[in-house]
Amino acid sequence: MTIDRQDALNALDVATLSELRDRLRELADDADVRVVVLTGAGEKAFVAGADVKYMSALDVEQAKAWGALGHEAGRLLETMPKPTIAAINGFALGGGCELALACDLRYASARAKLGQPEINLGIIPGWGGTQRLVRATSLGFAKDLIFTGRVVGADEALARGLVDAIHDPVLDKALGTAQLLATKSPAALKAAKDLVNRALQGDHAQNLGGEADLFGELFASDDAAEGLTAFVEKREPDFPSLRPR
Ligand code: CAA
Repeated sequence: MTIDRQDALNALDVATLSELRDRLRELADDADVRVVVLTGAGEKAFVAGADVKYMSALDVEQAKAWGALGHEAGRLLETMPKPTIAAINGFALGGGCELALACDLRYASARAKLGQPEINLGIIPGWGGTQRLVRATSLGFAKDLIFTGRVVGADEALARGLVDAIHDPVLDKALGTAQLLATKSPAALKAAKDLVNRALQGDHAQNLGGEADLFGELFASDDAAEGLTAFVEKREPDFPSLRPR
């Protein structure tokens, strides 16, 4: 999925963010979609943030609704039962960095610039940045970026764990991983995503119990039967759920 609003460096206004949220809902529910790759149109930007011109006229209630809309999009990326990958092809600032943080994997072009510059506007990150940046990196680095508003390049983002790899063209890397993941069992990927997402929240012992449960439940699936048998028979698995219907 490509966010294309290049005259504003792909900054998200109401129409674009609403369309993004709606499209993410469709992709989440579409069993034929195995992986979602999110990127920005053009050479300069992934997403340069929420549209500041739009935000400059908001009152408190409107700003809360605007925040909630961004959160809906982020939650869909984070929780849909299939992998999501951000291909960060340029500026990923404010809400753009936050959308990338909601994805399961983040790849950056060497020219990418990431940050949470909201403090320079007298506001704070509003689409999940105060929480997901901590989880992806560290408490100290999240406070550094959010308090100072400074923007970092791809190398620093990689060193801090904000992105998982640097590659150009970044979309090739993202699509390559997407194609690899599309060969895996969707049921196993769904369970893996759900469990890994739980790792930094809730009760550790309960989460481990959840893993033991889901691990066991997968043994009822045709994909597990095929995957385990294929190994024993020294051949590549042909997962039933991936066969053309
Ligand atoms: N909102 C609205 N318009 C934006 C925008 C944004 N976030 N970012 C860029 N644009 C527009 C510019 O206004 C400009 O439009 P005009 O030609 O009509 O003036 C066009 O995109 C090109 O931008 P620049 O001329 O500024 O390009 P540049 O290369 O000189 O600078 C930049 C690039 C450093 C990214 C700069 O555009 C910038 O600082 N943008 C704002 C980044 C920002 O603060 N993002 C956070 C927004 S707040 C947020 O996202 C809240 C939240 O958590 C939900």
